[in-house]
Amino acid sequence: MAKILLGVTGSIAAYRACDVARELMHGGHTVHVVMTRAATRLISPDTFAALTGNPVVVEVFDEPVPGQIAHIQLAQEADLVLIAPATAHTLARLALGLADDMLTTLALATRAPILIAPAMNPAMWSHPATQAHAETLRARGVEFVEPAYGTMACGDEGWGKLADTPVIVQAALQRLRRACDLQGVHVLITAGPTYEPIDPVRFVGNRSSGKMGYALAEAALAHGATVTLITGPTALTPPVGAQVIRVQTARQMYDAVQAHFDACEVFIAAAAVADYRPERALPRKRKRTGAEWTLRLVPNPDILASVAERKGHRLVIGFAAETDKALQHAKVKLSGKNLDLIAVNNVLEPGSGFAVDTNRLTLLYADGRIEELPMMPKRACAERIIEVVAEHLRQRRG
Ligand code: PMT
Repeated sequence: MAKILLGVTGSIAAYRACDVARELMHGGHTVHVVMTRAATRLISPDTFAALTGNPVVVEVFDEPVPGQIAHIQLAQEADLVLIAPATAHTLARLALGLADDMLTTLALATRAPILIAPAMNPAMWSHPATQAHAETLRARGVEFVEPAYGTMACGDEGWGKLADTPVIVQAALQRLRRACDLQGVHVLITAGPTYEPIDPVRFVGNRSSGKMGYALAEAALAHGATVTLITGPTALTPPVGAQVIRVQTARQMYDAVQAHFDACEVFIAAAAVADYRPERALPRKRKRTGAEWTLRLVPNPDILASVAERKGHRLVIGFAAETDKALQHAKVKLSGKNLDLIAVNNVLEPGSGFAVDTNRLTLLYADGRIEELPMMPKRACAERIIEVVAEHLRQRRG
């Protein structure tokens, strides 16, 4: 059974968190309540302590168990962080990564999935600032139980009421199930560009930022997978919990993939591997002379094709970066490289492909199915691909 951290913030709906806690406990789960100071003005921590049988923490320096640093301990042990109700202020603090009380500190320190049920006045919920904060959190993989329509305590009517208790509890249980559906599964992911040296200062590269591959690593981790991320040079911070292998060139990425492929069950190639490299890298910087300079390029190995041909039971997923006749070209890659699935992006479309935060993917399956995803944050695209992986493994295991 799971350990759930229930965050309660200063909304008038704070009292409803009692029912949420009780329902989760009826399901056999352990609930630890963390309250903001504002929430304690609306409902007493003693109520939650009595209901859950666990001490309630509010302040960062609260230490219910002497000798244990509460925020680290709670954050590490949690299987799910559920914040219900969440105020506009708490959403803003979470989006900014503030750690000015126990709840926000825990949210930063945990690796567990975070589910948020907002509750606030409709004008506050629809305010662009609140929506932007919610979007930032969604892009990081935080999920929401959307507020319901109704009349607020203040008399205003609209979207902003805390969702019904059964809806929140079902969402929490479903999120818990997904949090472990890839437990024990080793997912190998490539991300970012490769840099092929011309001389010590110049290289042949491409526009990949690594965002798509890193989002896949985050999503796989959020489903409980063991993740190895082989990454070309990027400015991104790798997700906590992934084993990270940094490479520069296509041949280094090839070697790293060969070394880790046998141990994986799922391989996802999101890297933009340079197809060609300069035939030889100059040992010193080539000086400018004014004369023409012809670079001779030779092909790099196709990493994805090289492992897919010996994939055995493994699930192998590729990407296709296209500029024209996207589906036609991607279908050739799907069958030519012996893939189970290929995710196609048109890199000329604004908001799609290289270096942006969103993507519009079309998934082509080996059995001929085609699934078109809307333009959405790369984290959401990654979530869909990881869901497909989980569905596939579930079916295979019967
Ligand atoms: O990193 P971002 O800025 O977020 O951008 C995301 C992305 C556009 C890089 C990503 O969505 C994407 O499309 N990745 C694949 C880019 C690519 O190299 O596509 P391709 O059509 O050239 O290659 C097809 C597949 O073969 C890819 O899975 C690629 O990783 C793989 N490949 C290609 C060449 C090669 N030598 N070895 C490979 O493994």
